[in-house]
Amino acid sequence: MDWVEDAKRRAAVEAVNSEVKDGLIIGLGSGSTVKYAIEEIGRRIRGAELRVLSVPSSYQSLLLAVKCGIPTTTLHEHPTVDLTIDGADQIDPNLNLIKGMGGALTREKILAASSRKLIIVADERKLVDHLGGGQPLPIEILPFAEPFVTAKIREMGGKPCLREIRAGAPYITDNGNFILDAGFGIIENPKKLNEELKMIPGVVETGLFVGMVQSAYIGMRTSVKKLVCNKLKST
Ligand code: 5RP
Repeated sequence: MDWVEDAKRRAAVEAVNSEVKDGLIIGLGSGSTVKYAIEEIGRRIRGAELRVLSVPSSYQSLLLAVKCGIPTTTLHEHPTVDLTIDGADQIDPNLNLIKGMGGALTREKILAASSRKLIIVADERKLVDHLGGGQPLPIEILPFAEPFVTAKIREMGGKPCLREIRAGAPYITDNGNFILDAGFGIIENPKKLNEELKMIPGVVETGLFVGMVQSAYIGMRTSVKKLVCNKLKST
């Protein structure tokens, strides 16, 4: 295992062991780092250390939760989630995020907004000074609206690109939608850009998560650091 996989695993295990308590309703984000958190929750359930219910954010996480023996529920049964653990593609010093390279951003944002606490697990490569540099912003859109939304984003100065699974075959989200990966360069005001994009008819959700995160467990090369309210604390 290279250091990145080890860093992701350490961050996820530390987050689960610090944050996940008996009886909680847990939101499960998606991606290769959250995978380690799901596996750790499953391990503790099988060891009879823990009883929780989970709300997965994607079919990927649902299938893994079932495989790991984690009982699942829905927002219909539990509209308020105690704690969501999710990954991120970029994390700025204010704990604002770009998410969605795994394609689950809409359900992830709904879960985040339904949660009392949103905890991020990631490796140190995800830390940035400003969102957007070298990283497109994933935007989930209605397929019908793709030409219109593409033109609007170009007018805003963005460079949208339809995500494909292979040439000519659009990537389809768990909600049956398309994703535009839009380059904006450095995003000076993530809140404003999110609001502007959400005003475009046909935009379902953006991968900008602004002011939603309580803390982030960051897997460094040899340690895990907990990032809370702009302060990096060793754990
Ligand atoms: C999926 C996401 C993921 O959380 C994000 O892409 C990070 O994934 P990984 O842990 O594999 O780097 O937003 O929509």
